[in-house]
Parts: sequence; C-alpha cells; structure tokens
Amino acid sequence: MGSEPEERHPEKKVRVLSLDEAVDGEARRVDVEDQRIVIVRIGETIYAIGDMCSHANYSLSEGHVDSNEITIECWKHGAQFSLCDGNPVSLPATQPVPIFPVETDGNNIYILLPESENS
Ligand code: FES
Repeated sequence: MGSEPEERHPEKKVRVLSLDEAVDGEARRVDVEDQRIVIVRIGETIYAIGDMCSHANYSLSEGHVDSNEITIECWKHGAQFSLCDGNPVSLPATQPVPIFPVETDGNNIYILLPESENS
C-alpha cells in the first residue's frame, strides 16, 4: 500500500521456564544463550529484565520484588528498576537495564531475544 517496509530485527523465541516454576512475587534468574535474565511473576503477568544492575555488576535476581510498584530492587545499593520498562526509579542507578518481550503458551514461558548479528 505504498508504505516502505519497516526494517525489523528478527527475534528468537526461547522457552525459559514453566509457569509453575515462576512463583508469584519472586525473581528467578535464567541463563539464555550468553545472557542472564530475571523472570518475575506478578499475578498472571510475567516480566523479563536483564539481571545485571546498571549501577555496578550485581545480580538483580537476588533483590526484592515489589508487586505493587512493579519493581525489582538491587540488593547492593537499593536502586529500584521498573519491570515494565527497565528504567531506574530510584538512585543510585541512572541507566536502564534491558527488558525482553514475554509470551506464554499453556504452561510455558518464552522470551523473545534479538537475533544476534553474525557478521
Ligand atoms: S549495584 Fe545495584 S544499586 Fe549499586
């Protein structure tokens, strides 16, 4: 219809956990390819966020999940990150961490990873 084709980055769909393994209000770290990702379940919603705090190299999966604010808190210095967009909502972190699209299918949880560029 005359519109230019949008350049889309291909995505890879990877099963990471079963829904049963994702406990409501808790964080669970998964290693996918060479990435560390935290899977968080809040009610029926699943979030996927990079495991590495953007302030220093500490694991967010060991931090506290706030189910009301939809955040995860870094245990080291207390920065909180939105599970919805990865942005920090409190200091000392000022940079976002990546988030990943999540799909569920039956009892399976998948995340969509950007296809790596092999050039
Ligand atoms: S390492 Fe996470 S807030 Fe400092």
